[in-house]
Amino acid sequence: MKLLVTGGAGFIGSNFIHYIMGKYSDYEIINLDKLTYAGNLENLSTIESGIGKGRYRFIKGDIADTRCIDGILSTDIDAVINFAAESHVDRSIDNARIFLETNVVGTQVLLDAALRHKVGRFVQISTDEVYGSLGPAGLFTESTPIAPNSPYSASKAGADMLVHAYFETFGLPVITTRCSNNYGPYQFPEKLIPLFITNALADKPLPLYGDGLNIRDWIYVEDHCSGIDAVLHRGRPGHVYNIGGNCEKTNTEITRTILDELAKPQTLIHYVKDRPGHDRRYAIDCTRICTELGWSQRYDFATGMKKTIAWYLANKPWWQRIKNGEYLDFYKRWYSDRQ
Ligand code: NAD
Ligand code: TYD
Repeated sequence: MKLLVTGGAGFIGSNFIHYIMGKYSDYEIINLDKLTYAGNLENLSTIESGIGKGRYRFIKGDIADTRCIDGILSTDIDAVINFAAESHVDRSIDNARIFLETNVVGTQVLLDAALRHKVGRFVQISTDEVYGSLGPAGLFTESTPIAPNSPYSASKAGADMLVHAYFETFGLPVITTRCSNNYGPYQFPEKLIPLFITNALADKPLPLYGDGLNIRDWIYVEDHCSGIDAVLHRGRPGHVYNIGGNCEKTNTEITRTILDELAKPQTLIHYVKDRPGHDRRYAIDCTRICTELGWSQRYDFATGMKKTIAWYLANKPWWQRIKNGEYLDFYKRWYSDRQ
């Protein structure tokens, strides 16, 4: 099978490439990535010269560039898996424009090209955030109405609607996954878990938004990858599959876990001004993917967090370079407004 993976130099995309290359020795992958601040080819350095030698290729490019996408899809691609996105809620609050250009227009360009080249499967990697915010009870199912609250989730919901429209209108064999919050190796240290691990290691404050009681469902990234693998091979076209970790935690619980694991003091916690429009609770019902496709998660939270913390401890140069680089401009501006 020959796959086009977009956004494969980012957090989940690079984990997915490692997963697929390790599992299927005859699969080929083209990884198309624009290499934004979040894309990092270091994540794949062992692939190019190792397990992926001769069957993995990186192309630097934009999913919104029709000529570039047409060129790639004219090489007999069996399936497209679209991870490419602007993915950070806080950045979408700071400036939404690029979120629409990549997440909505980029997806439309990919869908049109997939149609022209009769691609056999198009997997759209979406998020549970398109469902909006839950009260204290209930779970998101695949039939929960879309009600996004942030510019990020609105752009992802726009893409989901387009993906659905290309199935209904043109019969393009699309499948959408909606996963909860991922954590694990190679996650850019602006998201909660890697930001707090790396700040704690440097004895810097952990900026907890609002009362710290917002709830997310957490899943170890490799379990998300195995869910996408199941959907890619056995999912029903036109359908949505929720993927979740059955693991609701408040941000305070996550923070305490990190501090305890690293033997750092609770005094590092700094409560800061809340994120505007901050969704209170996400929780996923993923019965469909479990019963229909036989998927189940492998890592519980305690195991996944230990593996994640161990990875950040063992890979200090990877995240120290990021934290000393231009990413700091956004970090300083955003967090100086929250004191
Ligand atoms: P990420 O920000 O780590 O990586 C995104 C990648 O996309 C980067 O490598 C970046 O360079 C690339 N990219 C951005 N714009 C591009 C463009 N125009 N053309 C080509 N490449 C481009 O994001 P992530 O956390 O790995 O998320 C991957 C996907 O999974 C996203 O679609 C996101 O919405 C979805 N998702 C993420 C989570 C999560 O917890 N991180 C949960 C559910 C769904
Ligand atoms: P994040 O990792 O940005 O993912 P998302 O907003 O897509 O769920 O944030 C996870 C939770 O952590 C969310 O409730 C916001 C909160 N948070 C903080 O309290 N402080 C921070 O510095 C960050 C980045 C997030």
